[in-house]
Amino acid sequence: MVSLTAPVSRWIGRRLLTRAASSGGVDLSRISVVPKAFKVPFQREGLDPRVRVGARRERPPVSRLMHVFGLNVWLVTGYPEARAVLADTTSYSNDIRPMVASAGSTPVHSIGGLGFTDPPVHTRLRGLLTPEFTKRRLARLQPRIEQIVHHQLDVAQEAGEVSDLVRAFAFPVPFQVICELLGVPLEEREEFRAMGAARFDLSQGGAGLFGAASKSREFLFQVVAEQRAEPGDGLIGALIRDHGDELEDVDLAGLADGVFLGGYETSASMLALGTLVLTQHPEALELARRGGAELDAVVEELLRYLGVVQTAFPRFARYDLELFGHEVRRGDVVLVSLSGANRDERLASGAVRFDPTREPGSHLAFGHGFHRCVGSELARMELRTAFRAIAERFPDVELACSPDDLTFRELSVVYGIESLPVRLRPAQPRSAVDAPSRQQL
Ligand code: HEM
Repeated sequence: MVSLTAPVSRWIGRRLLTRAASSGGVDLSRISVVPKAFKVPFQREGLDPRVRVGARRERPPVSRLMHVFGLNVWLVTGYPEARAVLADTTSYSNDIRPMVASAGSTPVHSIGGLGFTDPPVHTRLRGLLTPEFTKRRLARLQPRIEQIVHHQLDVAQEAGEVSDLVRAFAFPVPFQVICELLGVPLEEREEFRAMGAARFDLSQGGAGLFGAASKSREFLFQVVAEQRAEPGDGLIGALIRDHGDELEDVDLAGLADGVFLGGYETSASMLALGTLVLTQHPEALELARRGGAELDAVVEELLRYLGVVQTAFPRFARYDLELFGHEVRRGDVVLVSLSGANRDERLASGAVRFDPTREPGSHLAFGHGFHRCVGSELARMELRTAFRAIAERFPDVELACSPDDLTFRELSVVYGIESLPVRLRPAQPRSAVDAPSRQQL
């Protein structure tokens, strides 16, 4: 085998990148094979990040994952190191455009919404969204979230003795919530739903990831065009009313799609995996039932422990720099393992364990810094409402199969589970529960 010296290989890599960029970009959307080393932060053992991710944190909290086309891919698994990278927009760019030449008919400049853009574009677009995501604005959605959650629990209950909570509950709830938020008309939702949920699947490489992006964006492009004429009540209508003159339809659809992308599969995975954890920890289910601070603590610990978004958006070094003792070259990719950093002892002692009574620290489930999740408050509202409703209505919820028979996602940015068969036995009415004690009196 021919072995190249590092400078030569880097030179070739840069030549390839430059050539590809001048001919339309290194097209990640055409790459269909994922190198083995790259898979490490996206695979797990059950609910735990792979042992190798933990081992990497024990050794250096930053290490080189792989070397491709003369560029290094670095993996950050330590908690303080992860925060430092995520907060640093001077050294790193999120702009992935030079690496994606096409995504179906999606214009390259609007790929991935906010997550793949840098200031000043990012600042401007994010500034348009944040007012819609304040607690006060979101409060209007709370009654609808309650209705949706209870309706889907009815559906799950009616499915029979055993129901699949992924199908009946975990996906339908955030789907409907996001449609409400965006203002997608009721009659168009089925078409939207049919576009599928697996947007973060890496098993087909960039081809799957970027190809899937185009369908829902095209759909939202239509919704935007319709609402130009008659703005609806949701986020799309509000953006058209307040900023319609500054925004082109394609930007609006890109923003809406980024919200859909950011909020759907992530929340669905949290609902499914969170319920799985609660079936294994009845004490946590009881805390969730009580509501208030105890419910909040359960939700925060689930977010930390599960870390369903396994890595943050990739960061690209803007220039040669030092990263906790490593020489990072301009263009190198830095991947921050959020699920790894969330299990760091420097964040929480006994971090590998799920403990809903611990003091919630500043976990990284929603990221950190400029690109921190815009929808975190909405996600929390959904999770609190859903877990409390399950705990109140089905305090004896149990897994209806052996844990060994569960199928988890094999290679996805968002970790998840294919199905979750559970037995939902309704709670005894309070009067019936209280009856024996009254008789004793
Ligand atoms: C439990 C559910 C959720 C989790 C775990 C989650 C997690 C994350 C993470 C880790 C990031 C990237 C941080 C980074 O790279 O620095 C992110 C970004 C984002 N999320 Fe979420 N998210 C969730 C729900 C939502 C919801 C409900 C919405 C909207 C409805 C949403 C919208 C977004 C958007 C638009 C971004 C890009 C922000 C930016 O780049 O400025 N997410 N989310």
